Amino acid sequence: MSFRTTTAIQYVEDVAPGTGALPPRAWYASSDAASLSLNGSWRFRLSPTADAEDDSFAEPGYDAGDWAEVGVPGHWVLQGHGSPIYTNHLYPFPVDPPHIPTENPTGDHLRVFDLPDGWPSDGGVTVRFDGVESCARVWLNGTELGEFKGSRLPHEFEVGHLLKPSGNVLAVRVHQWSAGSYLEDQDQWWLPGIFRDVTLLHRPAGSVRDFFVHTSYDHLTGEGTLRVDSDVDGRVSVPALDIDVATGESVTVPVEPWSAETPKLYDGELVTAGERVPLRIGFRTVVLEDGLIKVNGRAILFKGVNRHEWHPERGRALDLETMREDVLLMKRHNLNAVRTSHYPPHPAFLDLCDEYGLWVIDECDLETHGFTEQAWRDNPVDDDRWTPALLDRAARMVERDKNHPSVVFWSLGNEAGTGRGLTAMAEWIHERDPDRLVHYEGDWNCRDTDVYSRMYASHAEVEQIGRKLDGGTHKRRELPLIQCEYGHAMGNGPGGLADYQRLYEAYDRLQGGFIWEWIDHGIKHPELGYAYGGDFGEELHDGNFVCDGLIFPDRTPSPGLVEYKKVIEPVGIDGDGADGTVRVTNKYDFADLSALAFEWSYQVDGETVEAGALSVPALAPGESADVKLPEPPADAQGAETQWTVRALLAADTVWGPKDHEVAWGQFPVSARPLPTVAATDRPTTSDRLIYLGPASFDARTGALKTIGGVEVTAPRLDVWRAPTDNDDGAEWQTDTRYGMLWRKYGLHRMRHRLDAVELTDDALTVRTRVAPAAWEVGLATVYRWTSDGTRLRLTVSVTPEGDWTVPLPRLGIRLGLAQADAVKWFGGGPGEAYPDTKSASMLGRWHSTVDELQTPYVRPQENGARADVRWVELGGLRIEGDPEFWFTARRWTTEQLDTARHRTDLTPGDTVWVNLDHGQHGIGSQSCGPGPLPQYFLPAEPAEFSFVFSEIN
Ligand code: GAL
Repeated sequence: MSFRTTTAIQYVEDVAPGTGALPPRAWYASSDAASLSLNGSWRFRLSPTADAEDDSFAEPGYDAGDWAEVGVPGHWVLQGHGSPIYTNHLYPFPVDPPHIPTENPTGDHLRVFDLPDGWPSDGGVTVRFDGVESCARVWLNGTELGEFKGSRLPHEFEVGHLLKPSGNVLAVRVHQWSAGSYLEDQDQWWLPGIFRDVTLLHRPAGSVRDFFVHTSYDHLTGEGTLRVDSDVDGRVSVPALDIDVATGESVTVPVEPWSAETPKLYDGELVTAGERVPLRIGFRTVVLEDGLIKVNGRAILFKGVNRHEWHPERGRALDLETMREDVLLMKRHNLNAVRTSHYPPHPAFLDLCDEYGLWVIDECDLETHGFTEQAWRDNPVDDDRWTPALLDRAARMVERDKNHPSVVFWSLGNEAGTGRGLTAMAEWIHERDPDRLVHYEGDWNCRDTDVYSRMYASHAEVEQIGRKLDGGTHKRRELPLIQCEYGHAMGNGPGGLADYQRLYEAYDRLQGGFIWEWIDHGIKHPELGYAYGGDFGEELHDGNFVCDGLIFPDRTPSPGLVEYKKVIEPVGIDGDGADGTVRVTNKYDFADLSALAFEWSYQVDGETVEAGALSVPALAPGESADVKLPEPPADAQGAETQWTVRALLAADTVWGPKDHEVAWGQFPVSARPLPTVAATDRPTTSDRLIYLGPASFDARTGALKTIGGVEVTAPRLDVWRAPTDNDDGAEWQTDTRYGMLWRKYGLHRMRHRLDAVELTDDALTVRTRVAPAAWEVGLATVYRWTSDGTRLRLTVSVTPEGDWTVPLPRLGIRLGLAQADAVKWFGGGPGEAYPDTKSASMLGRWHSTVDELQTPYVRPQENGARADVRWVELGGLRIEGDPEFWFTARRWTTEQLDTARHRTDLTPGDTVWVNLDHGQHGIGSQSCGPGPLPQYFLPAEPAEFSFVFSEIN
């Protein structure tokens, strides 16, 4: 006899997808059939196990008056009942498929509703659940409708025979864990609940049940073909194309094609005896041809991002405006593609992709990553018992989303190993929709896929694949490469994007990629700002690995997004300042440049002195033109001069206003004269102080104390930065993880030994050795101070000693200022930059404040450096660099930044700490992918650099 599960809850551990639901079909909003949203406040009761309560709550008349309430759509763990759990790939329960723990938080949901006046009495009615995590059992008016799994997929039940005009009781029992959880091991928060819409849909007699809009575009004739298959006969009309045909009938007419760049949609209608359905039709043909992904006859280049659905307060329950915000942000940052990692998104998101223009890889709700811990033993995708569940998931995705022109690829899922179940899914999808391509990253032999897809491949490997030198199966060698994930945007970074983009643009076989990922999944928290893994006391968790997006949880773009925007800009603007020409290249795949207006401007020492319009021909995709710039303004003697050319939207578009900047380029005309200070002043000593020019120093230590009236905490050599997530690297990385080694070698606790304070006729020289306890390595560091009476020059000379086996995090000086707020500089800006994240750093005059210089990474770490700084003014000082330097200022020390876990751990002190760096180590992408390329390393090598200080009044 078995006591393990009562029959009433056996379905929870059943590998089958469910019972009672209607077959999957297209998701659409009818023009005339009635519908009723059941979103809103529902009665809610949480139980600790699946069988703690019987199902009497589903009976009409049950009194739920003392239950709590939750908002639907929503996750109960974000509404005060239980807590979220974050794991990357580890299952937060013992792996024993299909069994799940007895502790299985179960939320009973109740909603009582009346039918609106005039609700039709003919036909049928369905209730549709667009997303419930992870398993639900449903009753209406005491009659069980069925149960289902497949969290981010729709499930619909026939209810017409059960409905009453008033007092209908919809009861839904939702289990956090189920057999389905084994298929939903995506790297994200585990968030149970009814998190997408619940809708009642009237189905008039003779209404459309399911329909499939087939379109294609012949780029040779300029004609599009339309055929709408419907399982209920009807007519299809597209007034703008004079189309009026029967369902099932093909029609070919001249059309404007749909592409992500030119998302032309035609409004149409499907009319059956019982219903009118609005159609938004885009004509396009997606094929694999000559080893390339081609749309409408042209190879495309994905400039994409992986998007999870996320809102810092509502989790994966997204409203339309938030979805629109995502799409607008993507379009304004030059992105052209989204992979809906790792499940089909809310269907409204795909409407937006159709409308605004984004290529979509629609991914199935499938990941079994945790099985990697047991060498993929028992992996459900290679176990026939699970195949029906996999096929059900594939069908629910394809049937729901098949009418979206934006969807060009179906993806089988993510990180699920390999197996027969995946092959079955691919076969079914190819058969059902031969007009789209199939993607899956986990099978490097490409047995089931139409593209070779990889994640986090190094630049070197990507180049090898680009050159077709990577080998592999015969089939794979015939396929193009996309990186479905690269550029891990966790914390500061990702670095190296420009180097990837150069490869993607250089080799035809490389058809671009998708940054990991769009948004930090931080959860708004009263004390912590944004919470991440571990903040809810989880037994197992993966910390801030869940905060790895190009935008912060509140959707503010991070510097990573600004960098990516620059790297993928669709217009190349390169120039030669000396001969006064600019080469403009159209990097779009379909659009010409007629939507853009070009502008030139000329800067003297970073200030624009003249600007005007630049006439650029409406180049076709791939074309370039050399355009003559105007005569430069009269020579500015002894100044640094440059051209800036920008491409702006010429008029308002649906996604961006007129003058929105799309692309830019800068090129120097005359180089910067380096600052000079004649060493004419002689240091003097009195009262334990040394005086030199405007400055005073401690006579014993040689430490700077004041510059004019400005008090200074003496500059000292500084090599430490609060390691970024990319410095620390991921545990599976094979590249050296320097963040860890820097700490091992004590670079965060360097000691400064004073060897000599020397006064000569024209200089004060302080000799030191900077080194960590326990190790023989050190940096012999000499500070040489000179002055012409008003300006003070510091030259720092650094000579490494011992056997340095690690690069330095940074190399420069740190000083403290008692007061500083406003900051002005001439250099790279306006945002932060590091050696391999500085494409978007534009040379100019910028101003900010110390607080605004900070980048609010969810887990605090090195941030906020400005690149190529010629001079900066703050706290009453002007500091010029010879050569240019990296500038950082913050109200806390690097050590405080290093120990902080959340932003709220950082509180301003009395001193503003200023770092003036000669060098910074690159950022890379090692929190999941490869580290920085060697050219962005900061090796411990002899170095010399100077700063000139003067007081400003
Ligand atoms: C990939 C995975 C993503 C995410 C990423 C790291 O392997 O597909 O879901 O975990 O790594 O953030």
